[in-house]
Amino acid sequence: MQKYIIEPIKELNGEIEVDGAKNGILPIMAATLLSTEPCKIHRVPSLKDVSVMVEIIRHIGAKVDRDSSNMTVNVPEIKANEAPYEYVSQMRSSFDVMGPLLARTGLARVPLPGGCAIGERPIDLHLKGFKALGATVEFGHGFVEARADKLIGTSIYLDFPSVGATKNIMMAATLAEGVTLIENAAKEPEIVDLAIFLNKMGAKISGSGTQTIRITGVKELKGCEHSTLPDRIEAGTFLIMGAMHKSNLLVKNVVPSHLKPVIAKLIECGIEIIEEDEGLRVKSSGKINPVDITTLPYPGFPTDLQAPFMSLLCLAEGNSTIVETVFENRFSHVSELNRMGAKIKIDGHSARITGVEKLQGADVKATDLRAGAALVLAALVAEDATTIHEIHHIDRGYNDLETKLKKLGIHISRI
Ligand code: EPU
Repeated sequence: MQKYIIEPIKELNGEIEVDGAKNGILPIMAATLLSTEPCKIHRVPSLKDVSVMVEIIRHIGAKVDRDSSNMTVNVPEIKANEAPYEYVSQMRSSFDVMGPLLARTGLARVPLPGGCAIGERPIDLHLKGFKALGATVEFGHGFVEARADKLIGTSIYLDFPSVGATKNIMMAATLAEGVTLIENAAKEPEIVDLAIFLNKMGAKISGSGTQTIRITGVKELKGCEHSTLPDRIEAGTFLIMGAMHKSNLLVKNVVPSHLKPVIAKLIECGIEIIEEDEGLRVKSSGKINPVDITTLPYPGFPTDLQAPFMSLLCLAEGNSTIVETVFENRFSHVSELNRMGAKIKIDGHSARITGVEKLQGADVKATDLRAGAALVLAALVAEDATTIHEIHHIDRGYNDLETKLKKLGIHISRI
């Protein structure tokens, strides 16, 4: 088990660069299974989750070549119609391969992903979509299996704009016969990027980024070349980090329109955010106004930045409230922040944060990826050194965090 030891820093000046998006690249890697031709993907972040997805698609039959941040995937034939349990149990988005496998071969078997640290996370909406497209879905021995002689386009209404279900149904529908409409679809930028990628492969998708996505099925998809979009959650994490200190920090490789609710809340906190050619500059005096936040599907405030934003609000001058509406169990960072001297009370899906003047260094544990990021931010403003245990969670989603922080003069070591 590796851990971080992090020393606090008084001021944050300089620049920090954002990598390609974890939640963008994973479905794109799954989508490469839809074609027999090679796909070249650029700006691939070097993350644990990406390595897990490489192993899954290799198992299925992909030849994967990686050269720094470039990746070529070629899947001339499907050798196995299933994802191995050992990987699916580590990463829920392994389930992304289900739609492409079903579309290309008419058979997909994937272990049931089960719950995880942030909630139960059912897959009913994914399966509802596959069934509507004409697949039969069966469960047995811990697997879910979908079969179809052919998929036929139809209209599918999602009860909730699920990111995962929208991706999976969109990928499955690319090779279906006729037109599929996904209504109440997720609008996240990663969905739009996946649609762009699929269209480059020859799919016919319109309306991504709106609540109705229209997919006209085609006979086959070809290879293509694509660059992963910048990671808006990593960018948001760095903006929040800047806001917590006396700072003048340029966060590079950002799409500002992807971060509107986060920028709006930072401004409400009294932080200056300036749009520049190279990215977003955050300037803070270290004084933070309290704000209230409710997480929502995009374009609402992202649940993935709820934990990091809570670290910021721990130091606000007054009381703030955060309501988590996307996942039912995403407050595991609260007890760890309280161990560092924060004053946070949970009441159901709400957290009441009473700002304190200082946090203290302590031994704390990352319980999931974004909870881990929140603890890194808290450690940087604590009075003394903090040890963060179980940092494998952080490695899932933040590319080379230590190097990036060290460049800003931060003392961080991995033990
Ligand atoms: N849901 C259902 N049924 C379904 C699917 C989802 O009830 O069939 C529920 C979930 O239980 C959850 C809510 O809908 O309460 C949202 O789930 P969604 O499907 O939208 O999320 P996801 O695809 O499982 C992705 C990201 C998450 C991010 C969420 C919301 C990836 C790989 N994961 O998850 O990212 O929090 O969308 O934006 O894209 C992270 O990066 O730390 C992370 C957890």
